[in-house]
Amino acid sequence: MISKTSYFVFSFFLLVLATVKAQTYGKHGMVVSDDAYASQVGITILQKGGNAIDAAVATAFALSVTLPQAGNIGGGGFMVYMPKNRDVTTIDFREKAPLLATEDMFLNEDGILIPGSNHTGLKSVGVPGTVAGLYLAHQKYGKLLWRDVVQPSVDLAQNGVSLSYTLATHAKSFSESDAPVFLNNLFRDESGTLLDFGALWKQPALANTLALIKDHGRDGFYKGPVAEELAAFMKDHGGLISKQDLIEYEAIERQAVKGTYKSYDIYSMSPPSSGGVALIEMMNMMESINLDSIPFNSTPYFHLITEVMRRAFADRAEFLGDPDFNDDMPLDQLTSKTFAQNRVSHINMDKASLSDPSKFGQLYDGNNTTHFSVIDKSGNAVSVTYTLEQSYGSGMGSPKLGFLLNNEMGDFNPQFGYTDTGWLIGTAPNKIEPGKRMLSSMTPTIVAKNGLPYLIIGSPGGRTIISTVFQTILAVLQYDMPIHQAIEAVKIHHQWLPDDLIYEKYKLSPNVVSALEEMGHHPVSRDQLGRLMGIIVDDINKVYVGAADSSSPDGAAIGY
Ligand code: GLY
Repeated sequence: MISKTSYFVFSFFLLVLATVKAQTYGKHGMVVSDDAYASQVGITILQKGGNAIDAAVATAFALSVTLPQAGNIGGGGFMVYMPKNRDVTTIDFREKAPLLATEDMFLNEDGILIPGSNHTGLKSVGVPGTVAGLYLAHQKYGKLLWRDVVQPSVDLAQNGVSLSYTLATHAKSFSESDAPVFLNNLFRDESGTLLDFGALWKQPALANTLALIKDHGRDGFYKGPVAEELAAFMKDHGGLISKQDLIEYEAIERQAVKGTYKSYDIYSMSPPSSGGVALIEMMNMMESINLDSIPFNSTPYFHLITEVMRRAFADRAEFLGDPDFNDDMPLDQLTSKTFAQNRVSHINMDKASLSDPSKFGQLYDGNNTTHFSVIDKSGNAVSVTYTLEQSYGSGMGSPKLGFLLNNEMGDFNPQFGYTDTGWLIGTAPNKIEPGKRMLSSMTPTIVAKNGLPYLIIGSPGGRTIISTVFQTILAVLQYDMPIHQAIEAVKIHHQWLPDDLIYEKYKLSPNVVSALEEMGHHPVSRDQLGRLMGIIVDDINKVYVGAADSSSPDGAAIGY
């Protein structure tokens, strides 16, 4: 006989499947996320009278249950908020280096980086910021009671969800590899049996942790039993995070970085994310070029945007880091129109530029971040990207707490002073320092038209986030593309060094790839770039249009 809980889960699953479409319309609200359960939680909160912040907080907590590879309470991220009648603001809940972190913590005795050490084990974990960030956002701008927006995630963890095909394949691969114990046990039932696709997946330890957060707010995580256990787990297993790190962690409200593209205003995340500054620098460069004779998806188009990305990423490497540790970052200069014009003036439309290896290099980083976009009936808009860094973060966590810890320390420059041709960058703004936030590429963005939210967008993808968000916004604003098409359009990525032009192999025509190679580029294929989650406000038809990237196996745009 089917139990009440299973019936609930099954009906919910069917409901969600019925609403998943490439493009979705909503009159009163829209939530687009990487997971249908989480989008549905957000919509339910809107239907109960919550505002966009309530829905965003509820969605984020739900993702921490249903999308464990990136949704989190053990990581960090950024929120951009555009209330209908007030100024845009942002919440920075990026992780911080523990107080015991040192500049050389990932180096051997010869001062050389131990490969992979900055992404492995408990020393790779930054002090988590997600709970503090969501709490701050809710305290300042939420409408419903905190406990009511956290409760749905407690229910999902307690009652269980149907294990998706994607997660079932991850579960199988963890069971067949030497994955950390926490990951190996994540998708098993009480008797230790590995769960299969469609099985009811419950997480009682996570439900307890979320219940403490629901009852005690921020303190439910940074003080009391959760903090005690987290600090003890760190101590017992060679980690650095202490109770003091947890008590002292603060999320920060920061001014959004602002730019314009023609008549549109662009609001995005300021440092410690590099996303907003680089995005605005790229959009400024594009605005200074006459694009009338450059068709979308032509060879000149890809050449041009590659050169634009190459320049913005070089500046990112040189200048950006945590603003609380770098008071001399030239943000006004990097986001100015004249700076962009100057950068563009050195582009040769026939030939690739050189990425000078004697100056900068870049690390690729984790691409298992997740983004979601929300808008409510009053037109308040929220754009959130948050992450554990790599897929499932460090893969580690206390079984008593039930959540995964990030490996975000890998986003610092690990070997200060040493920059090479390929992978290492050693510039000062992003060197490791105790209590510092590591530089991010997350680019949660809101574009406004006539002072009101128009496009809410973001993506996972490590450094490729900036490139994919840039190209999606350009496709909508410059080439008038519908949101769904702009999200699905072929994307490329260039990050200065390594001097590779990454492209989506099934989408970019081989003729274009050859032509770019002849111009001096170094094309390298990848299956896919970005997993964009966007909303457009169609102010003519008075409707919200949401689209979840088709590369997201369980994502959904849900409107009402
Ligand atoms: N961990 C990916 C980012 O912050 O950009």
